Amino acid sequence: MLDHDTKQDYGSNPTAVRETDHYQKEYIQSFVEKWDELIDWDARADSEGQFFIDMLKARGKEKILDVATGTGFHSVQLLKAGFEVTSVDGNAEMLTKAFENARDRDQVLHTVHADWRWLNKDVHSKYDAIICLGNSFTHLFKERDRRRALAEFYAALRYDGILILDQRNYDAILDEGFSTKHKYYYCGDQVSAEPEHIDDGLARFKYQFPDGAQYNLNMYPLRKNYMQSLFKEVGFQKVKTYGDFKETYQDNEPDFFVHVAEKTYHAK
Ligand SMILES: C[S@@+](CC[C@H](N)C(=O)[O-])C[C@H]1O[C@@H](n2cnc3c(N)ncnc32)[C@H](O)[C@@H]1O
Repeated sequence: MLDHDTKQDYGSNPTAVRETDHYQKEYIQSFVEKWDELIDWDARADSEGQFFIDMLKARGKEKILDVATGTGFHSVQLLKAGFEVTSVDGNAEMLTKAFENARDRDQVLHTVHADWRWLNKDVHSKYDAIICLGNSFTHLFKERDRRRALAEFYAALRYDGILILDQRNYDAILDEGFSTKHKYYYCGDQVSAEPEHIDDGLARFKYQFPDGAQYNLNMYPLRKNYMQSLFKEVGFQKVKTYGDFKETYQDNEPDFFVHVAEKTYHAK
């Protein structure tokens, strides 16, 4: 492996790295391989259940655009459940890995290499639903990038399309403060994720693996209310937010929020 496949590069001042384009350098090959090895897909499928599949089916959505394909987990789940799926990612290595993961499970991914900010340059169809999952939107550091990406998602949806976008509960992390920081475990205690630095413009997380390997991700801490307003400002008519897949919750409890933003115009 080359050095840039095994080492992340945050320069001499890691907390100063607050750029949308940096996602290309963060998901290096060794991090991606290790993550996929440990967060086994069956365990992830068990913890998520049928939430996304049920939601899409209940609303009669069939043609789905997965804009944050990553290594392909949701694209493959949806293909297996009978949906028509197009899989987008801005990172070419991720798409290659996703294609291989799908092939190993007897599925063929239809992939498109595109950045969200100019999605419709490369994606020319209209979709019933767009999914942007796995806390992916947090990679956008600038306000104009977030607005632009949401506007591109809006444009790629049919007139009655929906956007399903999830995020970590950053409000709890920002408001409860660094001292009460929470350690999140994936897959039992195999991988841990914990905040290493938090301020209004940066959530830097540290990921630790059982063999001692350590990686970071620099993310923008999206507040729930801010996201809800942003959906509305780009034209989505209705937004419903679930907490850890539940409709009712105390705001500081869930680890993750899932927003469902609807395009349908209701006269009242
Ligand atoms: C945290 S991973 C999540 C992957 C997958 N959804 C999952 O849950 O396993 C985020 C993904 O979003 C992609 N991504 C981040 N910013 C992007 C952008 N501006 N345009 C396109 N893809 C982007 C990254 O390349 C990465 O594959």
